[in-house]
Amino acid sequence: MKFDLAVLPGDGIGPEVAAEGVKALEAVGRKFGHSFEFYSGLVGGAAIDASGEALTAETLRMCRGCHSVLLGAVGGPKWDDPLAKVRPEDGLLALRKELGLFANLRPVKMFPELVNSTNLKPEIVQGVDIMVVRELTGGLYFGRPKKRWQTSRGRRAVDSMLYTEKEIDRILRVGFELAKHRTKRLISVDKANVLESSRLWRQIAIEIGAEYPDIELEHMLVDACAMRLIQRPASLDVLVTENTFGDILTDEASMLAGSMGMLPSASLAGIPGDKGITFGMYEPIHGSAPSRAGRNVANPIATVLSCGMMLRFSLKLENAADAVEHAVAEVLSRGHRTYDIVEPGKSPIGTKEMGDLIADKVLAF
Ligand code: IPM
Ligand code: MG
Repeated sequence: MKFDLAVLPGDGIGPEVAAEGVKALEAVGRKFGHSFEFYSGLVGGAAIDASGEALTAETLRMCRGCHSVLLGAVGGPKWDDPLAKVRPEDGLLALRKELGLFANLRPVKMFPELVNSTNLKPEIVQGVDIMVVRELTGGLYFGRPKKRWQTSRGRRAVDSMLYTEKEIDRILRVGFELAKHRTKRLISVDKANVLESSRLWRQIAIEIGAEYPDIELEHMLVDACAMRLIQRPASLDVLVTENTFGDILTDEASMLAGSMGMLPSASLAGIPGDKGITFGMYEPIHGSAPSRAGRNVANPIATVLSCGMMLRFSLKLENAADAVEHAVAEVLSRGHRTYDIVEPGKSPIGTKEMGDLIADKVLAF
């Protein structure tokens, strides 16, 4: 089959890791007889430098015309002035909102080979395989009112954790659908002891739960969930939660997998079980790591695994997705490591070398 893919390399190490993602997809194309046409565009700091905007109408139009988007990373010290009118992150938030990418899937999986590379005890992280489903286009990030104003008693500011029934319903369904294909347990994370939006969330979760009698639904308060992630992470499977809670919990959870450089993500405009192509944007969860940029040291695995998620969740090429994941596991099992996951005393390999090894394993699948 033929697919059009937008590639937005962004800033810092973004272009280097995106190139390795493209390399893996090209290997998939050769191996499985698909053809991928890549269209490149600017986003983030790179777009601000070129046009003054973090996301241009042209890039957005290009993304809309493609089946999926691969994004590297955005941001860097050059654009960090707190008084700046436009920030690289604005480009990312605009992409999410404009492309309707409401469902953010962040799998946190411990590769057995890396069990000694985390800060936590190996027996705690052993077997960790969590899927966090984060709502991505609502809640505190986008709710109105959102403003700052002057009063006679000083300055005030407000952000609103606003959710509509429709927004809650569709993200919970993503959680239930994913749980079907995993251990059939879903944990809905909220703060229903304090927040009204969480109480509506919990009520809708219970209503939808009735449509999924095979899935065991549990509710967990977000503070308790933060604790459980460190205490007994291997006991968790699918978590579904609102935007800000998901942002915080996924940074915490990323520490369970050894390195941010290992973790992919998918942001979908539809429910994964739906037939046909689901539009999505795929990106590593790490940032632009400016201090590592341009040195061929970054770990491209998170980006390559993001391409694997694209094959699985958007393009519905299950075999090809398996090949990519298998290739990464094979390369790790042969002891190849980038700097972030290398064991003391061993030498790391570079970004390109890691990408080449993975592409070779895809071809040999
Ligand atoms: C993430 C990031 C973004 C977010 C930032 C860069 C706007 O932290 O993808 O988790 O808060 O969503
Ligand atoms: Mg974050």
